[in-house]
Amino acid sequence: MTENKPGKVSMEKLVSLCQRRGFIFPSSDIYGGLSACWDYGPVGVELKRNIKEAWWRANVQERDDMVGLDTSILMNPKVWEASGHLTQFSDPLVECKSCHQRWRADDLKENKCPACGGELTDPQQFNLMFKTFMGPVEEAANVVYLRPETAQGIFVNFQNALNTSRKRLPFGVAQIGKAFRNEITTGNFIFRSREFEQMEIEFFVKPGTDDKWFDYWVEERLNWYTKLGIQKENIRLREHAKDELAHYSRKCFDIEYNFPMGWAELEGVANRGDFDLRQHMEYSGKGITCLDEESKQHIVPYVIEPSAGVDRSVLAVLCDAYDEEIVNDELRVLFHFHTDLAPIKVAILPLSRKENLSAVAKDVYADLRPCFVTQYDDTQAIGRRYRRQDELGTPYCVTVDFQSLEDKMATIRERDTMNQIRVPIAALRDTLQAKLAGEDLFVLPEGGQIWKEEKRGV
Ligand code: GAP
Repeated sequence: MTENKPGKVSMEKLVSLCQRRGFIFPSSDIYGGLSACWDYGPVGVELKRNIKEAWWRANVQERDDMVGLDTSILMNPKVWEASGHLTQFSDPLVECKSCHQRWRADDLKENKCPACGGELTDPQQFNLMFKTFMGPVEEAANVVYLRPETAQGIFVNFQNALNTSRKRLPFGVAQIGKAFRNEITTGNFIFRSREFEQMEIEFFVKPGTDDKWFDYWVEERLNWYTKLGIQKENIRLREHAKDELAHYSRKCFDIEYNFPMGWAELEGVANRGDFDLRQHMEYSGKGITCLDEESKQHIVPYVIEPSAGVDRSVLAVLCDAYDEEIVNDELRVLFHFHTDLAPIKVAILPLSRKENLSAVAKDVYADLRPCFVTQYDDTQAIGRRYRRQDELGTPYCVTVDFQSLEDKMATIRERDTMNQIRVPIAALRDTLQAKLAGEDLFVLPEGGQIWKEEKRGV
């Protein structure tokens, strides 16, 4: 649990950079914030969207055996009775008898208050679901809960999804959405908050094939992170001990990331068996089954659940991509985001604000904007503008200079290497499209050239 390890970003640095560059702000900042709630800024919202988009593409768009849903946050309270959350979704809470601070008992190493050393009360189970009231009357009959997981929206829609999509086992339902937990202890920036987003898959399989599908999903999900640039050495699997398993879970592996505060859960892959569907059958009185093609019998499938946190993925991507280096005796801070995740893909940087140059640069901007998230910046010296884009993790900067007026060419500067190529303006869009899809920077378009050596390293 050490901060400031060499080569690793500290949480303090990350929080400050994220605030300064518009990734993430404390919620309700002008009122002093709200504990464990965060807002995504102009750059952070793009990063978060890109992560969700990459997940949806890999798990829904590119698969034959998956459909999506978007279910409501407020659900019939019977859902939480059936799912077991009303009775089981709790953490042990202790209170200090001297300073009255509250703690999660299973987080404490010693049986005394970490703040003042005072004596603690006996643990009491504290339910983590947020309660509110439906309609104008605040009475017990109108209590509803903010969902603590998106999964239940999928289970109660199992028959709707199956009947309308005409899928057959094995098949999955995916959902991205907000979840809320009244966590006793929060912290580590966006790692544990009270309002967060999940990306969940409930993958329904024939009982007996569940172990095979469990292994499949663990592998699949690990690969998703590494394909998006997370370094293999920063990610690992940890199997839950029997006494750690959630009330619905037969088996669970955490995919853990090596965050600045240490290894911690990024995603859980669980075998929930038929617990949820059977509970909903019992509590709703409705049949929830599907046809097993082999036996021609109606069966209750088992479910494998890869459940990822959007905010934890954002945090892992930020930590993993963060880098510092010394260039020309100055510190360069950058994010090596995968091009699919980079919030801004291209920045247009005219060398000066002179009108004839601005006109060309704005034409380039207008041409590129419909294709990529593009930023136009004509403030400050060019070196400072490059550094700003490095801190935003922008893979490519396009510089328009006075020579561009004559030779109709512009310079593309690459974030990671700071190498530059000179490309005909007419070929910029296609070239950037190819580079963003992973083509080598030095594969030049017709008429392009490696930019002068002395211009490198800016
Ligand atoms: N449906 C299963 C489920 O909700 P979970 O392990 O409790 O399982 C899944 O949560 C994921 O949701 C976690 O791996 C984590 O990424 C994210 N998550 C859970 N609680 C969170 C919190 N308080 N703040 C941020 N993310 C959280």
